[in-house]
Amino acid sequence: MTSSRVLRVALVGCGSYGAEHAKFLSRHRAVRLHAVADLDPARAEAFKAQYGAGYATGDVGRIWADPAIEAVWVCTQHHTHAPLAEAAAAAGKHLFLEKPLALTLADCDRIVAAVERGGIIAAAGFKLRFFPAVVAAQAFLKQPTLTTAHVIDDHWPSEFWANDPVQGGGNVLSQGCHIVDTVLHLHPTGPVRVYAAGGNRHHPTRDIVDTTAITLTFADGAVASLAVGDVGVPPFSSKFALQQSDGQRSLSLYNRLNSLMTREDKRVTEHPAHPEEGAAVIDEPFIHAVLRGGPSPCSIRSARRTSAVVLAAIESIRTGRVVDLTAPPYDAAMRLA
Ligand SMILES: NC(=O)c1ccc[n+]([C@@H]2O[C@H](COP(=O)([O-])OP(=O)(O)OC[C@H]3O[C@@H](n4cnc5c(N)ncnc54)[C@H](O)[C@@H]3O)[C@@H](O)[C@H]2O)c1
Repeated sequence: MTSSRVLRVALVGCGSYGAEHAKFLSRHRAVRLHAVADLDPARAEAFKAQYGAGYATGDVGRIWADPAIEAVWVCTQHHTHAPLAEAAAAAGKHLFLEKPLALTLADCDRIVAAVERGGIIAAAGFKLRFFPAVVAAQAFLKQPTLTTAHVIDDHWPSEFWANDPVQGGGNVLSQGCHIVDTVLHLHPTGPVRVYAAGGNRHHPTRDIVDTTAITLTFADGAVASLAVGDVGVPPFSSKFALQQSDGQRSLSLYNRLNSLMTREDKRVTEHPAHPEEGAAVIDEPFIHAVLRGGPSPCSIRSARRTSAVVLAAIESIRTGRVVDLTAPPYDAAMRLA
């Protein structure tokens, strides 16, 4: 840590993943969990009691108006991300925003514009990029030519909010974004084309895409094949898995991307597995970035690119066509600077 000062933070959205962040923030020596907020004041009060927050409120406006708060974690349903990000940026609060950025390109654009207008440091919650095995994989193989990857989960209840088309977007938008983001992160050039097949296979009461196979092409000619769905975790490879090769070297990430095996000259190395650390793995670099004045460890533009690729995949499913990511409306979202 570069500074001995204490960062006063707030958390908005006292639900299941908010608890992961609150647990870490409440124990961090450079952080004071100054306030917690939720539309449901009872949830906020429960967080205050459990994580020792300074105060709890059902009025999120109090967070934006509180000059003591420097940074805010937003851990709410996806359709609320754009308005909450706009409010945070307008109030000059640094922002940690859970994934996915939003469910539409327009909302993603709103968030990028608000963050850049507000001059705040903002990060999205794509924690898999920071898993030690993923970091080691990127160091081992810098220019993959072929990637295969999946996030395949057990069945989500149809009534789960993440399966609501407005609040959550369904498994592919809500959770598929994690593996799309990791694959984009592990390729040195940007994606230029996407084709996808799939649809709604398991949740007939919901207008969502829950199952897909996606083919991506990158600017350097590399290709990736991704599978996403809440259809039942594969027993060896686990919910998250990823394999890559560059023609000389190859690797497998498995055990939820916590374990890495590499292969070079037919010699296989099994690297030590890392215990999964929850939100700490991404909260720590964000706190560090805020204390030293940037840059973001997981930029909002890169998170917009990830959501744009998922939205393009869903367009491809619906139209049966290849989607050109270098043309409108997706081209602007491919730009990281
Ligand atoms: N990074 C990860 O691995 C990971 C894992 C799970 C969930 N998430 C993400 O975390 C976010 C929250 O998911 P969750 O499972 O914790 O949901 P949840 O339903 O358990 O909690 C969300 C909370 O936000 C509150 N809320 C909603 N709108 C609000 C608003 N406008 N103002 C204040 N509070 C509001 C709700 O009342 C609820 O208490 C989502 O973006 C989700 O995708 C990330």
